[in-house]
Amino acid sequence: MCQQCRGNYYITTPIYYPSAKLHIGHAYCTVATDAMARYKRLQGYNVMFLTGTDEHGQKIEDKAKEAGVTPKEYVDNIVEGEKGVRDLWKLMNISNDRFIRTTDDYHVAAVQKIFKKMYDNGDIYKGTYRGKYCKPCESFWTESQLVDGKCPDCGREVVDAEEEAYFFRLSKYASRVRDLLVNTDFLEPRSRVNEMVNNFIDPGLEDLCVSRTSFTWGVPVDFDPGHVVYVWVDALFNYMTALGFQNDKYHDLEAFWPADVHFVGKEIVRFHSIIWPAMLMSLNLPLPKKVYGHGWLNFGGEKMSKSRGNVVDPYILAEKFGVDALRFFMLRTFPFGSDGNFTNESLINTINLDLANDLGNLLSRTTAMVGKYFGGKLPAGSGVTEAERQAVELVQSKPEGGYIVTAEGPEKTDAELVTLAASLRDRYEEQMERYQFQNALEAVFKVIRRANKYIDENAPWVLAKDLAANGARLAHVLYNLLETTRICGVLLTPFMPGSMDKLFAQLGVGDEGRTWDSAAQWGVLPEEAAPVKGENLFPRIDMEKELAALEALNKPAAPAIPLAEAKPEIAFDDFEKLDLTVVKVLACEKVKKSEKLLKFTLDDGTGAPRTILSGIAKYYQPEELLGKTLVAVTNLAPRKMMGQLSCGMLLSAERGDQLHLVKLSDEILPGSRLV
Ligand code: MSP
Repeated sequence: MCQQCRGNYYITTPIYYPSAKLHIGHAYCTVATDAMARYKRLQGYNVMFLTGTDEHGQKIEDKAKEAGVTPKEYVDNIVEGEKGVRDLWKLMNISNDRFIRTTDDYHVAAVQKIFKKMYDNGDIYKGTYRGKYCKPCESFWTESQLVDGKCPDCGREVVDAEEEAYFFRLSKYASRVRDLLVNTDFLEPRSRVNEMVNNFIDPGLEDLCVSRTSFTWGVPVDFDPGHVVYVWVDALFNYMTALGFQNDKYHDLEAFWPADVHFVGKEIVRFHSIIWPAMLMSLNLPLPKKVYGHGWLNFGGEKMSKSRGNVVDPYILAEKFGVDALRFFMLRTFPFGSDGNFTNESLINTINLDLANDLGNLLSRTTAMVGKYFGGKLPAGSGVTEAERQAVELVQSKPEGGYIVTAEGPEKTDAELVTLAASLRDRYEEQMERYQFQNALEAVFKVIRRANKYIDENAPWVLAKDLAANGARLAHVLYNLLETTRICGVLLTPFMPGSMDKLFAQLGVGDEGRTWDSAAQWGVLPEEAAPVKGENLFPRIDMEKELAALEALNKPAAPAIPLAEAKPEIAFDDFEKLDLTVVKVLACEKVKKSEKLLKFTLDDGTGAPRTILSGIAKYYQPEELLGKTLVAVTNLAPRKMMGQLSCGMLLSAERGDQLHLVKLSDEILPGSRLV
């Protein structure tokens, strides 16, 4: 630990699956972790901020096969390639101290040792796995954990699985884990504790299957070839191997373990608050101090996914609105513990109101007035008055508030602004310590709004009409505004580091005015402050224009349809020959050895299942069509494809290279006719 440090602080993000392009929802947790890490550094902690990628598992193996490359080539490209994970964190100005890839040799070797230790101590044993497996989530489930027969995390189909496997004695730790969750602050927010206890622990924790033999892309169990370590066991230990646990690559375990906090999304709280502590208990290792399960960013009310297109692409959003505006928006708008609805309207609104109107205006008006009225430098004597010094002392000695402004007239506005700004750091700190970024930022913007009101109250343009009489007062008003902006700038730095560098350059503030201590001091800026009006940090955004531009990005230009492609006119009788029937998807799977075909088993209302093969595998994953209500032509002559009989055709809408199955509301019963 360094001499002047307040101590060590270790914070982590989940390590990302490089199985798909990251969207803005993925960036949420990493941006929050970054803000927290920067805040702790500002406070004087020696911070270790870890992020990385979780690169093993069947899903990756499958994706690589589809792409015709090796799994390692596949993950290398998504992690290290252009616009990959590392690039995205660079773009988002993420200040991680370390980046772990679970394919790194030192991690793989460490996981093998860890697995063997738990085997040797009797907490891992060999058995037969029979149960349900959700491929996309890489999660095993017992029958009782399924919701409507589907994966409780993602709602998708699960498959039966049976194989020889190793098990971890999770059941042995059930009561200790329960105690940890219920009787300590290990897991926050508190609502997540109830979820874990009621949904997972109290119904009975079964031993966890921790090895697989049906695929090979994982950490091999070195004492039993053919088995690979379950991807979650491999992934969770990243938090310790990245510090040097069971390896010689790093030597930071003593300094940084146990972690101060793991930030994780709500759907992976189960792994972090039940399985992770149980495995640490098995190894007699200290537990992390906290797991915080944040909510999800949804998009327009729906779960975010890359299929939402460009509007959730962080590269596009950052280029349009700026990285800092994007970072700020995510943490300013949504309470960290709950879900939030990301919309482009609210993003633009926040930029326009908070950043352009409130903060941007405060900075540009103030610096412009110093230039206009004082030639760019405030005169001596503009600084703190004795009354203000006393007011600050008083307010800072009353941390719970209770300070009453007794001054009258202009001095009243001084005292109100000065005491609000000088006591801001305490209110901000209280919220940051609870990961309530939204509230911390609201506290800062309350001061910024008060400062703008102070400008209106003191009307510098009126004072400036008679500089001989009012010059000293005018200079003091501007000094107070600059000092308020400085304090807010220090506290906004963890959220918008790049923009705050520019803000301080305009204020003419050096490092000494950017420290944590200085954020609780009034009068740090020299009296003869010399700010410079610079570029507009947060230009206003034209809502209508930008929304239309974003929408347009999501609509690939479809080629105009030449008239020649229209079919000749037909008689009504011809149309009537078609049987258009409403059908519901009972099962759907890829046809073996075919790149194009999906095989549907459909309920067409007759009581007997109908099979239709459709060449749309490129557009849909089978599991996403389960239960969907579609339309089929049911009186087409049956046709054999890839050796299987297809009885009918599913209707879809096609244009250019876009294809969408015609989907109907679930209220319409299978067997209904379209007329
Ligand atoms: N690989 C695991 C984590 C292993 S940690 C030992 C994983 N990876 S992930 O890439 O699927 O997700 C990474 C994080 O992104 C998770 O915390 C997840 O909750 C978060 N998010 C993914 N989509 C999100 C939103 N739309 N909104 C907020 N967070 C989201 O899980």
